[in-house]
Amino acid sequence: MFSVKNRTIIVTGASGVIGFAISEALAKKGARIIALGRNKEKLNKSFEQLASFGTEHLQMVCDVLDVHSLQEVAQHLDKKKITIDALINVAGGAAPGASARSEFLFAETPLEDSFFGLDLNDFRYTTDLNFLGSVYPIKIFGESMAKQKSGNIINISSMGAIQPLSKSPAYSAGKAAITNFTQWLAVHLSKSNIRVNAIAPGFILTEQNRFLLFDEKSGNLTPRGQRILSHTPQGKLGDPDDLVSTVFWLLSEKSSFITGITVPVDGGFSAYNGI
Ligand SMILES: NC(=O)c1ccc[n+]([C@@H]2O[C@H](COP(=O)([O-])OP(=O)(O)OC[C@H]3O[C@@H](n4cnc5c(N)ncnc54)[C@H](O)[C@@H]3O)[C@@H](O)[C@H]2O)c1
Repeated sequence: MFSVKNRTIIVTGASGVIGFAISEALAKKGARIIALGRNKEKLNKSFEQLASFGTEHLQMVCDVLDVHSLQEVAQHLDKKKITIDALINVAGGAAPGASARSEFLFAETPLEDSFFGLDLNDFRYTTDLNFLGSVYPIKIFGESMAKQKSGNIINISSMGAIQPLSKSPAYSAGKAAITNFTQWLAVHLSKSNIRVNAIAPGFILTEQNRFLLFDEKSGNLTPRGQRILSHTPQGKLGDPDDLVSTVFWLLSEKSSFITGITVPVDGGFSAYNGI
């Protein structure tokens, strides 16, 4: 019902926590993964183990904001006569100077801790990464889907798209833009047998954010971790595997009448007002 066997799927940000979890799950079920990432060593190490699942995968160094490097990948695939069935845009994140240190600007708050202290280069990089970092791969790899008149595109958004995350205006704006673009593109490609959807993960526990959510020594939740859990009706953090089942569903024929949506996978976070 949800078979991905012999389907060729490009995953960007493939050696990151969520990108790898998705790639590994798809590879285990017989999909061929074209894994794109910035770091060759990390990619090779992550994808060594995927080879054991029997399908021949391909990993290529590629920066999603560098159109030239995306074109090189597309040319390589073209030369090898590899056709793409799906594209999953996972690459994303935030540069440190794009987040404010203080949630509110009180009279006594130093301006450098507020919005006015943000680094504009980091701000631009972060909005670009989370918006154009999906638009560019779609432009480059989607063209072959348009020619073959079939395809499936999944973007990764965030809770910040629905309601901005306090302190993270650039990340939230970039994710809001990709949610909006998902709708636009879904309509634009609706006559071409190409579906476009997004997933908005809630708070997923990964090695990168574990230190923000749990105190290293005591193992107890940090104040931020406590706030997240108190705003998550199911009272738990998500696991990368929680996203994997949604990916299988969106890739499958079972969701063939679904395009242009952003699916929250969030333990109820986006539905909860708290009043
Ligand atoms: N972890 C969460 O709680 C959470 C919640 C909501 C959304 N997300 C989104 O999920 C996605 C994956 O997040 P993650 O938690 O696995 O983080 P991660 O840092 O482990 O993975 C992100 C990956 O993107 C890659 N990347 C960054 N910039 C790139 C570029 N210019 N070109 C190519 N690759 C680039 C990184 O190298 C990394 O491998 C991101 O889009 C993130 O915004 C994560």
